Amino acid sequence: MSERFTKGMARNIYYGGGAFFMLLFIGLTVDTVTALPKRENRDKLTAEVAQGKALWEKNNCIGCHTLLGEGAYFAPELGNVYTRRGMGDEQAFKAFFNAWMKAMPSGAEGRRQMPQFNLSEQELDHLADFLIWTSRINTNNWPPNVEG
Ligand code: HEC
Repeated sequence: MSERFTKGMARNIYYGGGAFFMLLFIGLTVDTVTALPKRENRDKLTAEVAQGKALWEKNNCIGCHTLLGEGAYFAPELGNVYTRRGMGDEQAFKAFFNAWMKAMPSGAEGRRQMPQFNLSEQELDHLADFLIWTSRINTNNWPPNVEG
């Protein structure tokens, strides 16, 4: 190999590097596209879950909370609130959720406050169904901390 860095060498690095990373990019794209269907939430998307999502949007819960990391950082992540508060028991979670929503705002000194939304029993039930459904999306164990 000559001591000088020639134009030819620079060109080879340019084309070789370009080809290498293009192949890497294609490989990772194929990997993602084949992995995603295996991680879909296979739970039935019921009318209740859809209505819960509509209520979630209408009341702008995301203005304070994150859902799977997306949203505002004022209040706790809710993508895993079912795991955190229900621990796998739908009825226990619904009881917690119903009581929580009715008890807001807590008025507790030094704690961030959540408004009272005055939702009906049915609306609360749909919102809980939506949060349970969301918690079952395979997020590759994200967030790593159940409190997150
Ligand atoms: C104005 C901001 C705000 C909005 C809007 C808001 N929240 Fe909250 N939420 C909070 C705060 C702050 C807390 C934490 C309060 C605390 O820990 O004392 C909280 C906590 C919660 C919790 C308990 C979380 C846990 O880990 O125990 C649930 C469930 C919840 N919110 C649901 C909702 C739903 C559903 C909506 C939409 C209908 C909503 N929130 C809209 C501010 C908000």
